[in-house]
Amino acid sequence: MSWQREPRANGVAKILITEQELQRRIYELGKELDGHFGDRVPLFVGVLNGAVAFMTDLMRAMTIPVEIDFMATSSYGNSTTSSGVVRIIKDLNQPIDGRHLMVVEDIVDSGLTLRYLLEMLEARNPASITVVALLRKNKPDAVDVQVDFIGFDIPDEFVIGYGLDFAERYRNLPYVAVLDPSTIVDE
Ligand code: IMP
Repeated sequence: MSWQREPRANGVAKILITEQELQRRIYELGKELDGHFGDRVPLFVGVLNGAVAFMTDLMRAMTIPVEIDFMATSSYGNSTTSSGVVRIIKDLNQPIDGRHLMVVEDIVDSGLTLRYLLEMLEARNPASITVVALLRKNKPDAVDVQVDFIGFDIPDEFVIGYGLDFAERYRNLPYVAVLDPSTIVDE
């Protein structure tokens, strides 16, 4: 049996959001965003690597014309807690002044990454910034940061799958699951 289909194998404690639930919500978000942008053409700013799965499904759930670009920020490395340090590893390929940005994030945890990113993007004078995050953790001490559209509010647990990693693994799971590091088996 494939490890993807075995919820208790290799670090997957439990499935939090199924593939079907993800796809249903992303379809809804796509329709909401079509309405939000109307005849404006958004430039999607995908935050690598975590937002890749979400962004590619989200843009295909929309029917208005969109353009895409990517940025990469430093992640937590192999730890499951925020270092508070955010670094731009890859910048956008184009100027964004006058553009309507659609920032696509995988997850808002402490909010530090998003806050830093938004400050940096605002300084480049886009016409507008809209933020969509697939997941937002229920974290009382998170910083106050702009998020306009949210896929799911989730408990404050470390999650993997659908773009989200632990030590660069699990991004290809089609669902979002809670990590149980004690059950990880090295191959
Ligand atoms: P924040 O700066 O604490 O909001 O976290 C931002 C980034 O940390 C996200 O874009 C993710 O890449 C990563 N991250 C935060 N929480 C998790 C998690 O539960 N699983 C996997 N990655 C996470």
